[in-house]
Amino acid sequence: MSGKLKVFVTARLPAVAVNILRERFDVSMWDSENDIPKDILLEKSRGKDGLLCLLTNKIDKKVLDEAGKQLRVVSTMSVGLDHIDLNECKARGIKVGYTPDILTSATAELGVGLLLATSRRIVEGTNAAKNGSWGTWKPMWLCGPSLEGSTVGFFGLGRIGLAILQRLKPFGVKCFKYNTLNEKTKEFETEHGVTYATFNDLLATSDFLISCSSLTSATKNIFNKEAFDMMKSTSIFINIARGGVVMQDDLCQALIDGKIRAAGLDVTTPEPLPTDHPLFQLPNCVITPHIGSATDETRTAMAVLAARNLLAGLENAPMPSPYEL
Ligand SMILES: *[C@@H]1O[C@H](CO)[C@@H](O)[C@H](O)[C@H]1NC(C)=O
Repeated sequence: MSGKLKVFVTARLPAVAVNILRERFDVSMWDSENDIPKDILLEKSRGKDGLLCLLTNKIDKKVLDEAGKQLRVVSTMSVGLDHIDLNECKARGIKVGYTPDILTSATAELGVGLLLATSRRIVEGTNAAKNGSWGTWKPMWLCGPSLEGSTVGFFGLGRIGLAILQRLKPFGVKCFKYNTLNEKTKEFETEHGVTYATFNDLLATSDFLISCSSLTSATKNIFNKEAFDMMKSTSIFINIARGGVVMQDDLCQALIDGKIRAAGLDVTTPEPLPTDHPLFQLPNCVITPHIGSATDETRTAMAVLAARNLLAGLENAPMPSPYEL
């Protein structure tokens, strides 16, 4: 028997990531497209020195107990860490790695995609083309608002919001506004061509309103009936952040009542959204299944970073992307 350290990978990852681990460790992997069942996760974690996991794997006290005292590193291929019992990891001296920062451009691209899909009614259009309602050319059929000359508002303006703003500039947007908890500096505003607005002003003046805010007690359910009532009836709402910032029933009613024109959502509550949910019935709502980071390049980079974190952690080198417990 070799003295190699043992690691378990809880999902099928790209070979380029797994090979980083295979060079050094004794690697086993849940080689399936389906989620690993909890009992198998417990069983496979036993005796391992390191785990590489996903957001969908709950790494709780039970898993850590089952793994055993030799477990030294938990590396997750995700930005979120809600699934890991961080206090237990800290208490046991287990290092934790994660993969922030590399999904900015992919998520921004999807944000732009949802803006165009909703404003230009792309899903309705493809359905109409397929179902036979594509008749003779009609002057105003399947029309929607243009980004050119519009006011685009950002609720939250971190890395992803800023990346969307930069990508929208060539569209000829007239005015970019933002609302955040802490107002940015004048230098920042000048550099990026964006002006601060109160939340109410952002609601009242945006033709396109993009939610890119993290979910906190201050932002939870902030897009409620009162907020949608304040928006323009011609406006389009996009959420690529977290489902929890929206009162979903209020959004649904606002779309039905024409308080706003359309919505594009990559995040919902819950996820997955049940297929019989009323939002799926609305032609003016485009829903994607939380695929913000789903580019080949980004997902591969996330897997490679998670593998590098695990490698470094087990070899007592600084992790490229540690989570400081
Ligand atoms: C075809 O799809 C369009 C757009 O979704 C819809 O408005 C229309 O009612 C549909 N027509 C039929 C015959 O299903």
